[in-house]
Amino acid sequence: MIRTEKIKEVKECVKAWKKEGKTIGLVPTMGYLHEGHASLIKKAREENDIVIVSDFVNPIQFGPKEDLATYPRDFEADCALCESIGADLIFHPEPEEMYAPDFCTHVGVATLSEHLCGARRPVHFNGVCTVVTKLFMISQADRAYFGQKDAQQLAIVRRMVRDLNYNIEIIGCPIVREEDGLAKSSRNTYLNPMERKAAVVLHQALTEAEAKIRAGETDAAEVRRIISNIIEDEPLARIDYVEVVDWNELQPIEKIDGPVLVAIAVFIGKVRLIDNFIVE
Ligand code: PAF
Repeated sequence: MIRTEKIKEVKECVKAWKKEGKTIGLVPTMGYLHEGHASLIKKAREENDIVIVSDFVNPIQFGPKEDLATYPRDFEADCALCESIGADLIFHPEPEEMYAPDFCTHVGVATLSEHLCGARRPVHFNGVCTVVTKLFMISQADRAYFGQKDAQQLAIVRRMVRDLNYNIEIIGCPIVREEDGLAKSSRNTYLNPMERKAAVVLHQALTEAEAKIRAGETDAAEVRRIISNIIEDEPLARIDYVEVVDWNELQPIEKIDGPVLVAIAVFIGKVRLIDNFIVE
């Protein structure tokens, strides 16, 4: 597996691979890889001749009060995981390699960024779209793999690719969970043992709500109420948002009568966790 910090080196490899007619799958990550990432890398491995993993904590998608400085990092462990799955190249640039001091071009997706995490993290999705665009350009990938755990991110990247005619297929992959249902996330490592136990409440609340929708509940306010009641019963939990939006435009709805995304963000202690489900 090739390890590189340099855009130029990735481009040279890509040029050679393209010349040989090889297909390229890209898995964009911020590192500290877990089984959720592993599932994306495995899928990319199955579907492409070449697999590139990017491992970059992207500073421009963090707000000034967010956890950029403390975001967990373990590059050696990331390399070992990528190598064990058979990735061909891991790209691990420094921020200076990705952003020149006078960098001033950003990509943003309007409507879909308005609600959910977009409303609480104003710079986040522009930062994601900008770095993802750069990674698409650098890797010239045929396919890119994103987890449904970040459902709003997945929808936004898909829309950006459609609206701006990027030559890449976006593959969404299911959420990978711990045995008790907690969605895998690099940020789970911030939880102390009591908080880790309490964090299962996100999945419990969503499971209850999904069952109600599948049984015929169409009132979005009732779905939000079911979720909020369960979360509020957990003393260590504090709701950031509980939202029911249509799965095309990510706009809040009152009546569920088409594909729907139910998404939540909850603080467990100081740790903000997100989770969701989609009913197509
Ligand atoms: O989902 C993530 O880890 C990041 O938002 C991404 C897509 C790698 C962009 O930095």
